[in-house]
Amino acid sequence: MFSPPPETAIPSGPQGDAVRRGEAIFRQTQIYTRRYAGSGLNCTNCHLEGGRKADASPMWAAWVRYPAWRDKNGKINTMEDRIRGCFIYSMNAQASPAGTPPPPGDDIYRDLETYFAWLATGAPTGADMKGRGYPKLAKVEYDPARGAKVFDEQCSSCHGANGQGTPDPRGGYLYPPLWGDRSFNWGAGMAKVANAAGFVKANMPFGMGNSLTDQQAWNVAAFLDSHERPADPRQKGMSVAETRSKFHASGDYYGQTIGGDLLGDGTP
Ligand code: HEC
Ligand code: HEC
Repeated sequence: MFSPPPETAIPSGPQGDAVRRGEAIFRQTQIYTRRYAGSGLNCTNCHLEGGRKADASPMWAAWVRYPAWRDKNGKINTMEDRIRGCFIYSMNAQASPAGTPPPPGDDIYRDLETYFAWLATGAPTGADMKGRGYPKLAKVEYDPARGAKVFDEQCSSCHGANGQGTPDPRGGYLYPPLWGDRSFNWGAGMAKVANAAGFVKANMPFGMGNSLTDQQAWNVAAFLDSHERPADPRQKGMSVAETRSKFHASGDYYGQTIGGDLLGDGTP
């Protein structure tokens, strides 16, 4: 497995300063990019150990694969586009003070990209590296009701009985929210049950990755994704039902939007 360089190897001078700023944004997104953060999350909550951990969508494996085509927005995505996507959906930028992700070319992207490139020092360009993304679990029939039991026994102690997370008295969260208005929105990758199941299997309960069975991981992922969360920002001008058929037709999304009938036209 590839290992990114140790912190002690960050160079001195302006290049190293940018690496450090990028790492600070990644780990403490709530502090350094508060203006663009609508959810209460930090990048590192889903890309663990500051984007270093294999099977937790590490940034060294991502770096070498862009620019790349994405079906989600039907164009070649640069790394900046991809980061922007996580601001729009996972960070729910629509509810942030700015109401948008960082503007194109912003220093936030420069610093994050400099950090990712440094993490990928020595990694081969274009390689499909072992440990990229979240593991893809074989599909099984899943049941959110059975996931509720896993949640109560193995997750609620940190993430709260209502999935609302455990706030940090100094700001942000000690344990991040899994649903509700402070979590990722319905358009986010984690709202897709297959992604959440792979993430949970490899990484949760925190510090005890790979202790759940695949079936438990699917069930609890379905349970957390079946709760209400902020609307998909692509939903503007469309009913929940239309949005569901346009963007969430795979059946692997629940799409429970806070407020339900967003357009007030009686369409749930
Ligand atoms: C709620 C969890 C969550 C948070 C918070 C989050 N991401 Fe992500 N991120 C994901 C998921 C899930 C994917 C994979 C999505 C997919 O495959 O559709 C992803 C993918 C990515 C990728 C592409 C990875 C690859 O291998 O192609 C990058 C880059 C990325 N995120 C950067 C960020 C940055 C930067 C932040 C903070 C501003 C962030 N993410 C916050 C869940 C999250
Ligand atoms: C010991 C405390 C603890 C337990 C128990 C735990 N988690 Fe987590 N969870 C965390 C922490 C801490 C993070 C953020 C990781 C980081 O920032 O390094 C996290 C992150 C997450 C995330 C991504 C961020 C978000 O808010 O969506 C999901 C999803 C998640 N946990 C689901 C679960 C599930 C499902 C279980 C039970 C199977 C579970 N967790 C059990 C501590 C815990």
